[in-house]
Amino acid sequence: MDEYITIALPKGKLFKKSVELLAQVGYSADNVVEDSRKLVITNEAAKVRFIITKTVDLPTYIEYGAADIGIIGKDVLLEEGKDVYELLDLGFGKCRLMLAVPEAKQRPKLTDYAHLRVATKYPNCAKQYFDKLGVQMEIIKLNGSIELGPLIGLSELIVDIVETGTTLRENKLKEIDSVYTATARLIANRVSFKLKFARLNKLVQDLQKILEEEAK
Ligand code: PRP
Repeated sequence: MDEYITIALPKGKLFKKSVELLAQVGYSADNVVEDSRKLVITNEAAKVRFIITKTVDLPTYIEYGAADIGIIGKDVLLEEGKDVYELLDLGFGKCRLMLAVPEAKQRPKLTDYAHLRVATKYPNCAKQYFDKLGVQMEIIKLNGSIELGPLIGLSELIVDIVETGTTLRENKLKEIDSVYTATARLIANRVSFKLKFARLNKLVQDLQKILEEEAK
């Protein structure tokens, strides 16, 4: 074991479970915390380095090889479309990208919503979805608090992530279609995976064993 493995972890909902899972297969370091002031956290003994990134940036770090592997939601992978190697479906962080409308403004058919405005953090996924449906929409890109869109008249609809459904309920929004389901994925830089194959392949196998145990 003579090389370091650099692991990118995303801030936000997947962070805690990612750290716990990696620690179970021997990849841990002191003070890997979400609000760490230290940007690179190294465990010299285990030859592992952690970097903590903004969620949407994580695939970029992997694509350029600034990190060898990382954990990220399939939703972000689909939206960002970066060239990375998807190694494993980790199963946790299950959520849905969906289309929602204010409860009071529902219409009978999906096509009845044509030519309206849709607020979303996922403009590429939303565009693909509406293209497939054959419905023309104006897509408005936001970076958060998407549910605000219909509440204040910025948009008529939203395409957003739903996990527990609490945010939808609290804002009196109704899901009218599901775009896709997503879970956390282990991804790798394509070159790193070849150059550091022995170590990374063992990591994948060890994670697989844990996931199988958990599923029993
Ligand atoms: C996500 C998503 C919804 C919420 C859904 O937002 O955009 O707002 O979680 O989760 P729920 O179904 O469990 O309520 P996030 O917390 O990532 O923050 P954001 O508003 O900044 O996008």
